Parts: sequence; C-alpha cells; structure tokens
Amino acid sequence: MGGPVYDKIKRVMADYPFFQQHLAGQLPFDQYLATLQALETELRQKLGASAYAKMETIPACSEYTTTQRVLDDLKTAKALASSSYDSAEFKRFRHCMQTCYDHQEYNTFIFPEEGRIAYAISQLFSPKTLFAAGSYYGYWVAWTMPGLAKSKGRAILSDIDPSVSRLSQKNIENLGYAPYAKAICDDAEKLLRQLNSSLDMLMLDAYGRSDDPREQYRGKSIYGPLVQAGIDKLRSGGIILCHNIDKRSQELDLFFTVINASCSTQIIADTTDGVAVYVKD
Ligand SMILES: C[S@@+](CC[C@H](N)C(=O)[O-])C[C@H]1O[C@@H](n2cnc3c(N)ncnc32)[C@H](O)[C@@H]1O
Repeated sequence: MGGPVYDKIKRVMADYPFFQQHLAGQLPFDQYLATLQALETELRQKLGASAYAKMETIPACSEYTTTQRVLDDLKTAKALASSSYDSAEFKRFRHCMQTCYDHQEYNTFIFPEEGRIAYAISQLFSPKTLFAAGSYYGYWVAWTMPGLAKSKGRAILSDIDPSVSRLSQKNIENLGYAPYAKAICDDAEKLLRQLNSSLDMLMLDAYGRSDDPREQYRGKSIYGPLVQAGIDKLRSGGIILCHNIDKRSQELDLFFTVINASCSTQIIADTTDGVAVYVKD
C-alpha cells in the first residue's frame, strides 16, 4: 500500500506509549534510543527496515514547533518578513492532503514536519516561480501549492519517471492547483539550464539512478550538478529547500561547495529526513 511512511509508523507505534512520550518531548533521548534498541527485532518486523531506520531521527517535538524554529531562523536572517502563518488554514489543507491525495503504490519519506515547513515557507515567502527537481509523485511540492496560488506563482515539477510525473500532475489538478503548476517529464538539470526566467525558489529531492555512468549523478550526488545548474537562475534572496541533507555525506561534497560559495544563510532543520533551507546571497 502506498502513502507516507509516517502513516505506517503512526499506526504501528500507537501501541507503544514510549513513542508517544518521545513525540511529546517527555522522554530523555537516551531512554528513547535504548527502548528502540531493546525492541529492534520486533519493530523492524512490524515497520520494515527502511521505516525503522527513521525512528531515531523523528523529532521529540510537534511538527508545529519544528516548523516554527525554521521560520524564526529565516526571519532572523531577514529571509522572511514574518514567521507566522494561519494555522487553521494549514489544518484545512492538511486534511485535504490526508483525504484526497492519490499515492497509488508509492511511498514517501516526507514526514509531517517536512510538509509543513514547505507549506509555511511558501505561504510566507510568496514565490512567483518555483522549480522542483525530482518531484517524484508531487507529494512534497504539493505542500507549497496554497502559498504559490496565493502569490499567483507558477511551479515546474520535473521528474524523469513518466509514471510519477503523470501522478503528480493528476494530484495537483485534483487539489485544484492546475493553473499554478506543470509537471514535465524530463531531466531536471537540462530543464534548469534551459530556463529563461529567474527563480524565487528551488526544491531539490532528486535521487539519481544508481546505474548512471556518471558517478556524480548517482543517488544524492545529483544535488551537485542540479545546484550548479540552478544557482545562477535563483534570484538573490531566493530559497533552496532540500530533502535528505546529511552534513556528513560525501555524496554531497559538490553540492556543499556550491552552497557555501553562494548562501550565507543555511538552516538545517531538525526534521526526520534532513530538510535544509538555504538563502542565496
Ligand atoms: C524517489 S524520489 C525522492 C523521494 C522523496 N525523498 C520522498 O520521500 O518522497 C527521487 C526522484 O528523483 C527522480 N530523478 C532522478 N534523476 C532525475 C533527474 N535527472 N531529473 C529529474 N528527476 C530525477 C526520480 O525519478 C525519483 O522520482
């Protein structure tokens, strides 16, 4: 069954009070880790290895708090004028995402706080132009749609896989945002190089093919060539929102070289699967 991996975690972990205590910030982290380790065999079996692997990094606070910290940091860096957005509006949209989004057989490692960060940044930053590289079936970028529609902006969703590209377009249409986004099934680097307008926001979530003959395009290494292609298109003050950023990952060496040369504001959010926000100088 497809859908957010977190939904499965929530379902399975409903029977484990220590997890609820962790989410509420009521359990010291070493105790949380020790309990996870003690239950490893059982939880791996119930959750599957890839979901179990994320258990250690699920934040010990609400998605609201995690998001607010990022927004406050962006406001301090003067990248946002305000850090408050309409929570009631967010909850309405979240309900829509939970009930209307068609995942088919696809799973996503976008966690609740990561969707909320994308939603809130888009609401407060009001991008007019957004490019999503490796948009998959559109789930992460969909969170930016209400903000983008409010600013009458336009997003390009690029993915090389035709099935996910079609599904992203279908979901954007179902959500009612067809005028604001277009899914293009093509290589993100090529599309970025061809772009002849400037970008307010760039989202990176591609995962290059493991059999790509060019090593620097495999896995998350692809962020390097993508940011090289996108950085000059991004306007000064523009935002790069990335998934799966691991400061220790050698795959990201080229990516960090470009980022360090162009973005003084770098916010690594405390999210489950490594959301980072960069602001171009
Ligand atoms: C698997 S998704 C990332 C999943 C995401 N982190 C999540 O949890 O929802 C990565 C996507 O990058 C796409 N991709 C790989 N190389 C690409 C390229 N050169 N241009 C555009 N998309 C690409 C893949 O087709 C895939 O859909």
